[in-house]
Amino acid sequence: MEEILVHGGRPLFGKLEMPTAKNSILPILAAAVLTRDAVCIHRAPFLQDVETSMQLLAALGCPAVRAGQDLLLSCDGPVGDTVPRPLMAAMRSSIYYLAPMLVRAGRARLSFPGGCRLGARPIDIHLEGLTAMGARVTARGDLLECDAPHGLHGVRFHLRFPSVGATETLMMAAAAARGETVLTGAAREPEIRDLANFLNACGGRVTGAGSSKIVIRGGRLHGCAYTPIPDRITAQTVLCAGAACGGEILLERVPFEPIRPMARLLTQAGCRLRRLDHDRVELVSDGRLTALGTLSTGVYPAFATDAGPLLAAAMLTARGTTRLRETIFTNRFGCAKEFARMGADLDCRGNLLSIRGVPALRGARVEAGDLRGGAALVIAALAAQGESRISGVEYIRRGYEDIGEMFGALGAAIGRSAQPERETTAAGR
Ligand code: UD1
Repeated sequence: MEEILVHGGRPLFGKLEMPTAKNSILPILAAAVLTRDAVCIHRAPFLQDVETSMQLLAALGCPAVRAGQDLLLSCDGPVGDTVPRPLMAAMRSSIYYLAPMLVRAGRARLSFPGGCRLGARPIDIHLEGLTAMGARVTARGDLLECDAPHGLHGVRFHLRFPSVGATETLMMAAAAARGETVLTGAAREPEIRDLANFLNACGGRVTGAGSSKIVIRGGRLHGCAYTPIPDRITAQTVLCAGAACGGEILLERVPFEPIRPMARLLTQAGCRLRRLDHDRVELVSDGRLTALGTLSTGVYPAFATDAGPLLAAAMLTARGTTRLRETIFTNRFGCAKEFARMGADLDCRGNLLSIRGVPALRGARVEAGDLRGGAALVIAALAAQGESRISGVEYIRRGYEDIGEMFGALGAAIGRSAQPERETTAAGR
């Protein structure tokens, strides 16, 4: 079993360039199925979820190949109508293929998507929106059969919750549907705007992305070359680690707006954060943080749910009490019991995590149970005294290319106990 080994207690110093956002490239890869032309995605990160997407694309008859940092796709032949169950189970983002399959194959057969265990993650808004656009949906157990006997048509649809995934599903469907679609109550995350920019680079006509009203005029899409945006969650992972461990970190390729709530909170906790220019941020911390009182996660532009566990990790040794309320998922703080193994003093009731800062954490054997919770354990281990061993690395690898290499570049003593299988694939990139 692979583990991440950390000898904590060292400050972090250095410069890092942020990779491409997982949450941007995954829907964009699915959206590439909408066109028969070649699509080239630049700066494609070597993430497990990207590998899973490539397997899924291959299963649909749309092989994607790597050329260094680029991913080249072509969906010029017939597109399959079935996603194998293991690929649906491997990640939540498999659901992004539903709309493109309906468009290209006229039907889709799949099981409900898996992904991180953050609580119930229904897809009812995706399905309601597609139904309003002319799709027929039948669920049998955990099997889902959809078809669109008369094709998809434009619609006015209100999302009763600004779901990121549902907004993206409906944008993809609408971009290839007949007529105009108006989505209200849409999610406003930067990754939504990025998907709109990709669709527009393919000849789509999407306006308003980034606001809660998105207008999409359907039509035929062509191929393009596209570079998705940088990963704001990876940036916040590094900032929280720097805040907790102390040190000086320069982050490059990180637009400030998406990380503004985190920057404000870390400043309040006692760090110095400076926005150097449009995409560079500097953090200076002496590692002695002050607790933040009560705060909540929320939909964009509020403090992001994915960043909750990361900030919690930094607050474990802050002076005073931090109460963090999660408002999006029902089980965001699965990492709390693992924090406790490292000597943290906390209490997790439902969606409320209360942290009373302790003077120091001690290294321990802990297990990641989801992606961001796993990254949070790495942050806690970097700040702790002594050795930590983190298992459940497969969760972390879904969203971080090589978290050990990333923090190693900042001077952390971090490594792996066994070589991951992916190592051979990534070699020579
Ligand atoms: C995306 C992100 C994830 C982030 C989340 C919220 C990707 C690949 N993942 O996930 O990192 O944490 O946004 O910012 O982009 N919901 C419904 N019905 C639906 C869809 C969602 O009730 O049909 C609920 C979910 O159960 C959850 C909430 O809406 O409680 C948010 O989900 P959603 O915004 O859809 O998250 P994802 O797209 O899965």
